[in-house]
Amino acid sequence: MESIKFAVLSGDLIGPEVMSAALEVLQEAMASSGIQLDFQEADVGGIAIDRHGSALPQATLDLCSQSDAILFGSVGGPKWESLPPQEQPERASLLPLRKHFSLFANLRPGLLFKELTQASPLKEERIPDGIDILCIRELTGGIYFGQPKETTSLSDGDIQALDTMVYRKSEIERIADVAIEAANSRNKRLCSVDKANVLETSVLWRQVVTDYISKKAPDIELSHLYVDNAAMQLVSNPNQFDVLFTENMFGDILSDEMAVICGSLGMLASASLGKSKNKHNKPFGLYEPAGGTAPDIAGKGIANPCAQILSAALMLRFSFGLEAIATKIEKAIKKTVTGGTRTGDIAFGSKAVSTSEMTAAIIKNL
Ligand code: IPM
Ligand code: MN
Repeated sequence: MESIKFAVLSGDLIGPEVMSAALEVLQEAMASSGIQLDFQEADVGGIAIDRHGSALPQATLDLCSQSDAILFGSVGGPKWESLPPQEQPERASLLPLRKHFSLFANLRPGLLFKELTQASPLKEERIPDGIDILCIRELTGGIYFGQPKETTSLSDGDIQALDTMVYRKSEIERIADVAIEAANSRNKRLCSVDKANVLETSVLWRQVVTDYISKKAPDIELSHLYVDNAAMQLVSNPNQFDVLFTENMFGDILSDEMAVICGSLGMLASASLGKSKNKHNKPFGLYEPAGGTAPDIAGKGIANPCAQILSAALMLRFSFGLEAIATKIEKAIKKTVTGGTRTGDIAFGSKAVSTSEMTAAIIKNL
């Protein structure tokens, strides 16, 4: 491999701040490998609305299509909140990107280092060894994308809004394949989350998951939880979970819950993968931190760059097969934060460093 080609879509507010940190770390981590970074930047989200009148300009989409992976920052912010809902940066860029590239599998590792248990809102005795969960979320189906999706004025003068939650057996099976692979690479324990006591889609989900896993991976220990119970279990005893596996909206909610018990949204990376392969015969994917644009701290140079850097590491691992370099980056981050160099979100009263100081420390620990 001579070079890796990826699109860099930094987006808004802290997006570009943490993205430049990630690119610096990538550059440094790859320096001795002889592999060139071949990336090109494009506008997405609010900044793309301001400059081009669209949150996802055609040129940005074209660049993504020509790349082997997308490194995404984050989009949105107060400036664009008054736009009509369908035109807001999140709905008009991130969701169409996921759909366009059929990125149906979202992997969010919920990792809290033992040394950072203080950063979690959970009592330390509940998580003496930290947390290590993987959340797998279906990303292109369910209520996010089901049609019809509309608001109508009714003849009696009332107004009605409608979202449609829909799943096909085939959609459930293809994400179950991802869950099987993930569980096999970890402790072979899979907890599928649904609301089968109420929703038809969940009845199908549970049925298909049960049948499919018993046929394809009978050695995996499969359990099922209703989503309300799962939300409760996650805060009372997170380490009962190895791999959490669920549909789009439940996964959105549970992964934020998981993020906060893991100490900080600033540490949470994610990978969104589909079936299509890039020219390295690896999955094409979109990699993004889960934390959003953080309007409250944007522009101050204090955002935690770890989630963005860890997302870049996931990109190396999944889309380019560069496992050793990905691990090297993850270890450098662990060494840095457990060694006490921390941004404000994980500093708990001790001296907080800036984004660039944090980045420099990570590079030093590579
Ligand atoms: C996420 C985000 C997105 C989602 C928003 C920004 C559309 O919350 O990636 O979890 O709901 O999927
Ligand atoms: Mn979310």
